[in-house]
Amino acid sequence: MIDELREARRSAGWSQRTLASRVGVEPQTIKRLEGGVGSVRTLVAVMAALDFHLAGLGPGKTLSEQLLTRRRARSMTLEAAAMKTGLSRTTIASLERGGGSVVSLLRLLAVVAPHARRRAPERSYWGQGDKDDRDSRFTPPDFMASIYAAFGEIDLDPCAHLLSPVVASRRILRSEGGDGLADTWSGRVAFVNPPYSELLKWLRRAHDQWRVGTVETVVCLIPVRTDSAWFHDVLSADADIYLLQARVRVLDPRGKGQHTPFSLMLLTLGATAEQKERYESITPGFWLTRSAAVRR
Ligand SMILES: C[S@@+](CC[C@H](N)C(=O)[O-])C[C@H]1O[C@@H](n2cnc3c(N)ncnc32)[C@H](O)[C@@H]1O
Repeated sequence: MIDELREARRSAGWSQRTLASRVGVEPQTIKRLEGGVGSVRTLVAVMAALDFHLAGLGPGKTLSEQLLTRRRARSMTLEAAAMKTGLSRTTIASLERGGGSVVSLLRLLAVVAPHARRRAPERSYWGQGDKDDRDSRFTPPDFMASIYAAFGEIDLDPCAHLLSPVVASRRILRSEGGDGLADTWSGRVAFVNPPYSELLKWLRRAHDQWRVGTVETVVCLIPVRTDSAWFHDVLSADADIYLLQARVRVLDPRGKGQHTPFSLMLLTLGATAEQKERYESITPGFWLTRSAAVRR
């Protein structure tokens, strides 16, 4: 677990000094922690800073609660745990209240949850394959049925693919020399499920074409990724956002369904109240209310 913690810091691109300043401790404390020495309180603060969670424990909101529910789920009394770990009952009780040392915690973990591992962090991109492969995921017909029902027929798919089930009167296909980032968008409704590796570029393009007025309504299916100043300062003032309750089962080029490893949302520009209401009545989720500050 300590090795995984060190690995999590490195993959976040943080030095021990950076992590220390985020947690509010001395760099030496992080160094000691990565050597397996320190307090559970510091460990918990470090885990929170790194968004590091353990799988293989019991249910609970905190690490100590998860340890306790895990021991109980294994029907292990305090006495039995004390015997197996070589720790005192007081030490175990203290660990289960959030106190104690990392050394004791590791001993308890080895007995009550020997298979506890870092829970894979949520990815905001497809982890396997090259970039083109990761970007070739198609919107499934059942999802499109709710789009057609709510927004009407699709006039344009600016990032289409020959294997995609999306039905649109005009498709911009890269395989035929088209470029959705350069060719003019047109029509009443454009449906955009863009390459997620270039999400911002596509959102900027959608916003630009919608503002110019060559396309009336733009409906984008995109990851819930809102961490850019442009999204907050510009796009959010014009966009309506629908948070989908379910993960979408997109199709790979072989037609195999696969749930996205991240949440998706619908982002629309120029959608009417009727279109939005219709969509909400057929798809689990809800439209975000725009704050007065950004509403134009
Ligand atoms: C996530 S897939 C979605 C395909 C389709 N829009 C759908 O919803 O099923 C994104 C597609 O964008 C295409 N693409 C990437 N860059 C493009 C560009 N500059 N112009 C047009 N299409 C592009 C890729 O070929 C890829 O198939």
